[in-house]
Amino acid sequence: MKFRRKPVRLPAQPFLVIGHRGASTYAPEHTMISYDMAAQMGANYIEIDLHRTKDGKLVSIHDEVIPYAGNQTSISDLTLDELKQFSPGHQFNKTHLDFASQEYETEQIPELNDILTHFDNNANFYIELKSPKRYPGIEEELLEILRTHSLIGQHEPIPSVIIQSFDADCLKRIFDMEPSIPLIQLYSFKGSDATLSGKEIRKLKKYASGVGVNYKSLTQTFIAHVQQAGLHVHPYTVNEETALLAVMEMGVNGVFTDRPDMAVRISNEFFGLDKHTFT
Ligand code: G3P
Ligand code: CA
Repeated sequence: MKFRRKPVRLPAQPFLVIGHRGASTYAPEHTMISYDMAAQMGANYIEIDLHRTKDGKLVSIHDEVIPYAGNQTSISDLTLDELKQFSPGHQFNKTHLDFASQEYETEQIPELNDILTHFDNNANFYIELKSPKRYPGIEEELLEILRTHSLIGQHEPIPSVIIQSFDADCLKRIFDMEPSIPLIQLYSFKGSDATLSGKEIRKLKKYASGVGVNYKSLTQTFIAHVQQAGLHVHPYTVNEETALLAVMEMGVNGVFTDRPDMAVRISNEFFGLDKHTFT
């Protein structure tokens, strides 16, 4: 009989605070300073969105394109050096006057390898493969980088790395290559309640450890249905205290947030902790 591998089960505790693009309310998203801030605020995970440059480097940035040389240019058409001419901090300072800072001006789009070197296994990473079909082979490249940094197979007290994507095929490829990494299937149920059929959940359970869902679509029924299958629920992107309390009341297992300080404080109060003890 063929041995069937099962996805990792995420631990019931702790409630996970995932620093969405770092601490992106306070600092330019996906910069080292934003990631440092999230870690210092006690986030359990630093969230990273991944794309690949023209010269094959994996870089952390949300959008597929950036303004470059007067045009909107795809990340995949720029080399790392070209990409580093873009100033995320300059953009942030223009649009976030309340948190603008001169020190942000010199921040650059980081290469994944540099982020992992910078934290030297002292942080956990929640990595999203954006548009993986644009970047054939990116799954293997990501796993190779994680291996180089000894980030595979580390699960105590929580997994060092979680990988997320809207692309189920991408997650299944990763599961086939490295089933020890927890995988989160992302969904966007825009304008409607979140729902998955029994058949969809059975398929999901074959490769995923949980789901990431836009929080406004969540219902208690959906959460219970997913959790009964042993899967976790991580809503995105919860930035207000009232919304955080509402999804915690509904029983989610963690949240993506641009404000990790707020989520650490509120979740600690909610669960009766007096300090953030989980890393
Ligand atoms: O990864 C969860 C959430 O971040 C997905 O949305 O657009 O912020 O990457 P986005
Ligand atoms: Ca993301």
